[in-house]
Amino acid sequence: MNDHADPVAGLKQTLAEAARQTDQTLAEILPAPTGLHARVQEAMRYAVFAGGKRLRPFLVLSSAALFGAPQARALRVAAAIEALHTYSLVHDDLPCMDDDDLRRGQPTTHRKFDEATAVLAGDALLTLSFEILAHPDTHPDAEVRCQLVALLAKAGGSEGMIGGQMMDIDAPNREHTPDEVILLQRMKTGALFEFSCEAGAILGGGTIEDRQRLRGYARDFGLAFQITDDLIDVTSSAEAAGKAVGKDQDQGKATLVSIHGVEGARRQAEELAAAAADAVAVYGPVAEPLRLLPYYLIGRET
Ligand code: IPE
Ligand code: IPE
Ligand code: MG
Ligand code: MG
Ligand code: MG
Repeated sequence: MNDHADPVAGLKQTLAEAARQTDQTLAEILPAPTGLHARVQEAMRYAVFAGGKRLRPFLVLSSAALFGAPQARALRVAAAIEALHTYSLVHDDLPCMDDDDLRRGQPTTHRKFDEATAVLAGDALLTLSFEILAHPDTHPDAEVRCQLVALLAKAGGSEGMIGGQMMDIDAPNREHTPDEVILLQRMKTGALFEFSCEAGAILGGGTIEDRQRLRGYARDFGLAFQITDDLIDVTSSAEAAGKAVGKDQDQGKATLVSIHGVEGARRQAEELAAAAADAVAVYGPVAEPLRLLPYYLIGRET
């Protein structure tokens, strides 16, 4: 994907390029604000283009590349998962959820617009993600498109991200065991990562074994990623993170950081990153971005 001598510099370049292409695709796909309902479309664009690492798109593109899937199709799936992820953030920040004012270094969508517009923009981003997947440009075979739609519905639904968010909202009222916290994290964050990786394999005609292997990668990486998000909440600043910090403890949320301490959680994230990297080593040099990504991201500050 790049010919950098320094692997981390090479990965950063690959990430930046994937983000640029994803943004271009999203800019083309997101409806242009028009008519009496323009405000909701302005809010959709605002939420999507306020920033963001575009990690889930990167996972789709890198997984699809393992199997030589056409990039234009992968970019549409990348846009779909980023639209759904952005909706989850817009709703996560609402006063009835985490009540946050800052997201991706900018005012949250309900602060920039208003609560009702933020709810509607989130809803519209969610439904847009399925519209993108169902379009023939995503894949000429309707059966493949149906598989992607069903997989995303599952990942974003009550047995996936939404179920995890429900457990998270309920967390202050319960004592969670470490296993329950892991389940919560795997659902709230891991499910969309798993979709991203498996969708890449589906687009490229990977086998069931490939799909399972990539899901395994995403499971471990997703948990390592959420542990790091929880570490950022404890150890970083709002300026560096681009969002409020110190909230998990304030709200009495059990995380793997509150259970194992900062050092224990860091170690766990490192072990999970190594396990994820090992899982995709069988694909050889083409899997280099996927192998390096978990190590790189557990060191992030945002
Ligand atoms: C934030 O996700 C929410 C979590 C699941 C931890 P990201 O850290 O990927 O957020 P963006 O897309 O880069 O803003
Ligand atoms: C949110 O988790 C995960 C989602 C599914 C949106 P958090 O509430 O920890 O995410 P941040 O810290 O606000 O980004
Ligand atoms: Mg939350
Ligand atoms: Mg939040
Ligand atoms: Mg968080």
